[in-house]
This record gives sequence, structure tokens and C-alpha cells, in this order.
Amino acid sequence: MKRVFSGIQPSGNLTIGNYLGAMKNFVRLQHEAQCLFCVVDLHAITVPQDPAALRQNSRNLAALYLAAGIDPEKSIVFIQSHVPAHAELGWLLQCIAYYGELGRMTQFKDKAATKDVVTAGLFTYPALMAADILLYQADLVPVGEDQKQHLELTRDIAERFNHRFGDTFVVPEPYIPKVGGRIMSLENPEKKMSKSDESQGAYIAILDPPDVIRKKISRAVTDSDKEVRYDIEQKPAVSNLMTIFGLFTDMTMEQVTEHFAGKGYGQFKKELAEVVVDGLAPVQARYQELIATDEVDRVLRTGAERARDLSRQTLATVKERLGFLAE
Ligand code: AQP
Repeated sequence: MKRVFSGIQPSGNLTIGNYLGAMKNFVRLQHEAQCLFCVVDLHAITVPQDPAALRQNSRNLAALYLAAGIDPEKSIVFIQSHVPAHAELGWLLQCIAYYGELGRMTQFKDKAATKDVVTAGLFTYPALMAADILLYQADLVPVGEDQKQHLELTRDIAERFNHRFGDTFVVPEPYIPKVGGRIMSLENPEKKMSKSDESQGAYIAILDPPDVIRKKISRAVTDSDKEVRYDIEQKPAVSNLMTIFGLFTDMTMEQVTEHFAGKGYGQFKKELAEVVVDGLAPVQARYQELIATDEVDRVLRTGAERARDLSRQTLATVKERLGFLAE
């Protein structure tokens, strides 16, 4: 059976970008593979986090995984910092990754450009991400488009290690959705929708109340002319909204185009808002049930135990291959 690993940072309120680009695929894959889904808190602290908010966001994110349909009987759900092997292998792989290749990562360059101070952790982030994946010998990594470059680096690190020290790691494949791999900001269609965007109007959070969703969609930027037409070059804002509509209704772009033929932006936005509100309602309801119980905490305890067990073998092999003296 194939093994799948993926993670999401508890760095804010999850957006429909995270949901459509990553989480929906997690739910789908758990029926055909052994899956590990992680709350990657070690990654989140590569930029400043308020400690109380980080703790809260980590638990909330675990609850969202379950609310979105991840079944803890099938998948392992856990918190990254509960499994020390992530940080340990992360360091070892920092000594395999090259400074030059880390410096070429566009996510680092984009994030660093907006910060007054840049941590060393933000720079070495992809080596930790490689550790997350390689630790479990994952075959497939479901992610959005923005993580593709990090995945390629993970593959390079795995191949380099295997070449130098003998076959140790499975070289993983990215699993990126053909549609929905890059949902754009509602305020700027040139920019990815991000949960840490300073402007709340730029994203729809999975847990936004219906009226907030309606307001954000009504204020979303559109393009010139009044036609609801999919054209990523000429009409990137409307094309992004049409993509969201298609993903929430399981309609192809042709069907969405046909559905809105002759209708204006006003009608389009109204229907889109209702489709998003209805699509998120069951996830929101399940989340409210879960968050009030200790089910999440139990799932996380069991998940960490199972992940720790799985991680031991790879880490021991890596240390032995590197030449560390046995304890
Ligand atoms: N806009 C997006 N469209 C499609 N997929 C997306 N993902 C993120 N944004 C979009 C995918 O969601 C998963 C979790 O992402 P992450 O938390 O590890 O960090 P990220 O990629 O940096 O996502 P954000 O929302 O932009 O977080 P912040 O603002 O904290 O940096 C990944 O699979 C990602 O591809």
C-alpha cells in the first residue's frame, strides 16, 4: 500500500485555498493509501507566532482535519513537535541540502521580502519539510502548487543521500490537483490566497460565518467587461472565482461558463457565495461539535504514538549510514 504524508501550518485561519488545494485531496487519498496528516507547528515558528494563538491554532487545525473528513481510524493525525524525529532528521538533512539551493526557493524569497527580520529557520524550512516526508518513506505528497518547488528539493535531497550513503529513502512524488492547486487572493488575482495575509478580505476562511463569506465575495475584485468568462490571462480575477465555483459544485469550467452565460457579475457572485456557504456548512458544523469535546486530544495522542513508532526505523538507519556511533 502506498504511503502518503502531508502537513499544514497552524499559522492562522485555514482558507478555502488550503481546503481546495490540499485538504480535499487528503480526504480522497485516505481510502487508497496509508496516510499521515500533520499539524506542522515547527514550520509555523519560522515566522513569529503568538504562543497562545499557536497552541489554539494547532488544536483547531487538528479538529478541522477531522471535520473535513479525515478518519483517524484510517489515517494518522498528529502534531509535528510531538515526534522529535522531525527536528532531528531536519538537522541531518540541513547538512545534506546546499545553501545555494535553499536560497533559490521562491517561497523563501517572497516571504523574506516582506519581513524586517528573517529567521534562519525560514531559510532552512525546506530541509525540515524534506525530513517530514522522508521520515515516513512517503510515496506521495498531496500539496498545492506553491509547494511544488519544495517537493522537487525533497526529491533532490533524497536522491543525493541515497547516492552517497546507499538506498535509504523512498523518493516521493508530488500530488497536485489539476484544478484548485493555486487559488488566488480575492483582492489581488496575481497573489496566492494565504491564511497569513494581513488583509482578511483577501481570503475566505473555512470557518468564516455565512455573512462574512457573502460580504467577502461581494467585495472580491473582478475584471473589466461584464462577462463571466474563463480566461486566466485577460480575466484572472473572474477565472479564479469560477474555479472556486467549479470546485464547490463539481462542475467543469465548460459547465460553469454555460451556467452563467448571459448573466452578470452580480448574479454570479450571489450564486458563488451560496455555493461556498453550503459547501462549508457541514465542515463547520462538525468542527463545532468536535472542538467542544476531547476527541481531538485523544486522536492526537494516539497519532503521535503511531508516528513515533513509524519514524524510529528511518532515523536509526540514517544515523547509522551517516556514521554516528551507536548508543
Ligand atoms: N492558495 C492556495 N491554493 C491552493 N493550495 C494552497 N495551499 C496553500 N495555499 C493555497 C496548500 O495548502 C497546504 C498547506 O499550506 P501550508 O500551511 O503548509 O503553507 P502555505 O503553502 O504557505 O499556505 P498559506 O495558506 O499561504 O500559509 P501561510 O500564509 O502561513 O504561509 C499546502 O499543501 C499548500 O500548497
